[in-house]
Amino acid sequence: MSRPRKVHIKSFGCQMNVYDSHRMADTLAPAGYTETAKADDADLVILNTCHIREKAAEKVYSEIGRIRVMKEEAASDGRQLLIAVAGCVAQAEGQEIIRRARGVDLVVGSQNYHHLPDLIARAAGGEKVVDTEFPVEDKFEALAAPAPAAIAKRGITSFVTVQEGCDKFCTFCVVPYTRGAEVSRPAAQIVAEVERLAESGVRELTLIGQNVNAYHGAGPDGAPWTLATLLRRIAEVHGILRLRYTTSHPHDMGDDLIAAHGDLPALMPYVHLPVQSGSDRVLAMMNRKHTRRHYLEFIARLRAARSDLALTSDFIVGFPGETEADFRDTMGLVEEVGFAGAYSFVYSSRPGTPAADMKEQVPAEVKLERLHRLQALITGQQRMFNESFVGRTLDVLLEKPGTRPGQLAGRSPYLQTVHVMASPALIGSMVKVTVTEIGTNTLFGVMDPSFTSPLESGISAAARPRAGRGECIAPPQVAFGVTIHPLRGSDIQGA
Ligand code: SAH
Ligand code: SF4
Ligand code: F3S
Repeated sequence: MSRPRKVHIKSFGCQMNVYDSHRMADTLAPAGYTETAKADDADLVILNTCHIREKAAEKVYSEIGRIRVMKEEAASDGRQLLIAVAGCVAQAEGQEIIRRARGVDLVVGSQNYHHLPDLIARAAGGEKVVDTEFPVEDKFEALAAPAPAAIAKRGITSFVTVQEGCDKFCTFCVVPYTRGAEVSRPAAQIVAEVERLAESGVRELTLIGQNVNAYHGAGPDGAPWTLATLLRRIAEVHGILRLRYTTSHPHDMGDDLIAAHGDLPALMPYVHLPVQSGSDRVLAMMNRKHTRRHYLEFIARLRAARSDLALTSDFIVGFPGETEADFRDTMGLVEEVGFAGAYSFVYSSRPGTPAADMKEQVPAEVKLERLHRLQALITGQQRMFNESFVGRTLDVLLEKPGTRPGQLAGRSPYLQTVHVMASPALIGSMVKVTVTEIGTNTLFGVMDPSFTSPLESGISAAARPRAGRGECIAPPQVAFGVTIHPLRGSDIQGA
C-alpha cells in the first residue's frame, strides 16, 4: 500500500461509464487512492467521458479547462494534480486530446482501465501517457474487485456490465468504434461479482451492455448462455430481490428473454427497447436491422408475456434524409405503442460514421421543431401513466434518503422514483406504498404501516416474497410514464 492519495472521478454519458468509474476506483484503492467528491482537493481527477453526440464530447473540453485552473492552483501550492481523460472520447480521440487540451496528463481508453496504476505512475513522472490500444487480456479479470465498504457506500442498487461493445454499426453511432466489438463476460465471473455485491447489501441489479440482450457469455460447461439463462441464475443469488437489464436491441430479443418476463418474478416489468424511428425507410438508412413491423411484433409478444410491462425507447429525429412523412411515421408509432417514457435526441453528426457523409442533412431548425413535437407527445403519455397510479399500491424498494427530512426515495417495479416517509432503517427493504400524489418525475405515497421487511426479520431467501407478477397492482393496459432509465445519465439527455 502506497501513501494515501485522493482521486475524483466524474462520469458523463451512459451507465456503463458509471460502472467503469467504480471499477477504476476499486483498481486504484490498492495503490493508496481514496475517492473524494471534490476535484480541488484531489491528487488525480479522472474525467470518464461520452462521445455519443457532439455536445457530449465538447463538454469534456470545457471540463478540462475548469480542472486545469485547479491544477495550476495546486502547482502553486507545491502539489501535483494529475488530469486523466478516460471513456469514449479518450478512445475516439486518443493523442488528439493531449494536443488540444493543455493540462491533460493521461488518456486511457475504455478497455485499458486495469493499466491505470501503472499509467498514473508514468504520468506522475512527467510523461504524457496515451493508452487506447484494445488489449488482448480480459479487462474484467484484471480489474480489482470492490471492497465490501465501497459496495455498501454505493448503495443497494448496482449496475453490472455483462456485455460490452457492439457489432451492429448503426450508421449514426460511434459506440462500435469507442467500445469495440461485442464481448460477453463468462457467466461464472458475473455470478461471483453479483454474490459479492449481494453480500454487501445490494438488492437490485441492472445488468448492462451496449447490446445486453446479445449476451452470449460462456456458461459453466463452456457452452454460451443467453441473457435469459443468466438472469435466471442471478435470480437465485441470496439477497437479490430485483433484476433489470439494459440496453436491448430489437434484433436480439430472444424467445427465452420474452418468456422470462412472464415467469421470472425477480425480473421487473420494464423494458427499454430503442426503436430510433417509426419509418422503415429511415430504419434502413440507419442500418437498424429491424423494421417497424418487427418492432411492433416484439412489443406485442412482450406484452403478451407480461401485460403490465412498462416500455421505454430512444428516438433520433432529423436523421439525414428524414422527411416530414417519415417523422409522422415516428409519431404514429409512439401513438400506437404508448410508451412509458422515452429519450429523444436530434441527430448529431459524428465524425467517422457513415451517416455523417450522407447528403440531405436536415436543417437544425427542422430537427428542433420535430423534437419538440415528439417530446410533447411522449411527455403526455408519461403523465397519463403516472396519474394512473394514484390510489394504487406498489412494491417499492427503498434506496436512499429522499429530498425532505424523514423521507426515503425508492423505485417502483416500473422504475418510477417513489418518495415516502419512512425510517432510514428500511433502506434496502421492499415495502408496500399506496400512491397519493404525482410530481413531475416522481410518485409520492404512504407506506403500509403493518409491513415488516423480510430481510429485516431474517426470513430466508427461499421463503422471501419476491416483487413481481401479481404483486404490482397496475392496470394491465398500462405502458407509459417512466422518466429515468438505467442506461442514461442526466448528461446524456442534455447532450
Ligand atoms: N446500445 C445502445 C446505444 C446507446 S446510445 C442502444 O442501441 O440503445 C443511446 C442512444 O443515443 C441511442 O439509442 C440513440 O437514440 C442515441 N444516439 C446515438 N448516436 C446518436 C447520434 N449520432 N445523434 C443523436 N443521437 C444518437
Ligand atoms: Fe450504437 Fe446501439 Fe446501434 Fe450499437 S446498436 S451501433 S450501440 S445504436
Ligand atoms: Fe460511450 Fe456510453 Fe457515451 S458507450 S459514447 S459513454 S453513451
